[in-house]
Amino acid sequence: MHPYSLKSSKGAPLPPRPTLVFLIAVFGLYVCYLSFNQIRLENEGGENSAEEHTEHVCTKPSVPSEELRYVHLPKPKGYNRGECSCTPVRFFVIVSMQRSGSGWFETLLNSHPNISSNGEIFNRIDRRENLSSIVQTLDKLYNLDWLTSAAKNECTAAFGLKWMLNQGFMDHHDDIVSYFNQKGVSLIFLFRRNTLRRLISVLANNYDRDAKQLNGTHKSHVHSEEEAEILAKFKPELDVSTLILDIRDIEKYIRDCLDRFNTTRHMILYYEDIISNRNALFRVQEFLGVPARKLVSKQVKIHTRPLPDLVKNWEDVNSKLNGTEYARFLDGADYVK
Ligand SMILES: *[C@@H]1O[C@H](CO)[C@@H](O)[C@H](O)[C@H]1NC(C)=O
Ligand SMILES: *[C@@H]1O[C@H](CO)[C@@H](O)[C@H](O)[C@H]1NC(C)=O
Ligand SMILES: *[C@@H]1O[C@H](CO)[C@@H](O)[C@H](O)[C@H]1NC(C)=O
Ligand SMILES: *[C@@H]1O[C@H](CO)[C@@H](O)[C@H](O)[C@H]1NC(C)=O
Ligand SMILES: *[C@@H]1O[C@H](CO)[C@@H](O)[C@H](O)[C@H]1NC(C)=O
Repeated sequence: MHPYSLKSSKGAPLPPRPTLVFLIAVFGLYVCYLSFNQIRLENEGGENSAEEHTEHVCTKPSVPSEELRYVHLPKPKGYNRGECSCTPVRFFVIVSMQRSGSGWFETLLNSHPNISSNGEIFNRIDRRENLSSIVQTLDKLYNLDWLTSAAKNECTAAFGLKWMLNQGFMDHHDDIVSYFNQKGVSLIFLFRRNTLRRLISVLANNYDRDAKQLNGTHKSHVHSEEEAEILAKFKPELDVSTLILDIRDIEKYIRDCLDRFNTTRHMILYYEDIISNRNALFRVQEFLGVPARKLVSKQVKIHTRPLPDLVKNWEDVNSKLNGTEYARFLDGADYVK
């Protein structure tokens, strides 16, 4: 009979006790070693959170494991998050173009107690001068050390900014993609389908920059029907000789952007879709991991009339685009009351 057989039959010798005891002891030590390793691993997993101070360890946020890298527990230098220190935060950026509804969209987001969007911070050239100034700015922002009027008394669960394509975003696209993926930033692309309406809004806004129609001040966004009425009175004249090219360029710019940033966690949103279906805003809140609620804005839309009433040389514009791939913009109302 094999000496280590535990099936001791009558008369067979029992397995040597010392050997058994030794084996069990080795096994016990091995289990201890394993669980010790596990504890160490778990602590390392909680990393940023438990570094400097020996604060209580936050429980793992309840998100799908593939989304864990998009939730964070930032530790601002300037203040203590206090009872919110275990509220996980998603970093986001609204990527858009001027006159595409992003100002309005941002006020909607900021009406949510757990969302804080901090404006067009790259409108200042020194912040986008080169890649390092961009990274520095983003690091500070995503560390929650960027204090603006969007700061909340509530526990912030989504923190971000608004970034226009022409504010260094496309110039440094490769590096910015890497940054976003490393840092775990979620992107909301907000574009406008009707490029013609956008062009009209750009021209009208440029005109007001000099004309300052509202009591001598220039406003890009308004909060009353009266103000909207005054701004909408101005009818720009479109340069029809470059119109098709202009539209084509803008559409290509947007396509290129979506292409270059397609490895990021993102959602694509169109202004027209938010106008026609406010459920689009629930999708956004889900994407940002905040409890869904009705979002509100005090901003009033400026150009609410049909297109022919908004353009000085409508006849020319109409005949230029009729029969082209862009004819769809001609009857496209982006405002449905
Ligand atoms: C980047 O821009 C910042 C801010 O304007 C400037 O201070 C810094 O010297 C620049 N760095 C490089 C590497 O060019
Ligand atoms: C939103 O803020 C409230 C109030 O501070 C907080 O209790 C709640 O946990 C926050 N929600 C999320 C999803 O972080
Ligand atoms: C312009 O100023 C006048 C007087 O202060 C005020 O009554 C009016 O509402 C203002 N209009 C606009 C469009 O701001
Ligand atoms: C991103 O775009 C590139 C170029 O168009 C394409 O080859 C690639 O499959 C896209 N990747 C994803 C994840 O969509
Ligand atoms: C577009 O052109 C066609 C043919 O020239 C014409 O019948 C039609 O009325 C035009 N459409 C508009 C909206 O002007």
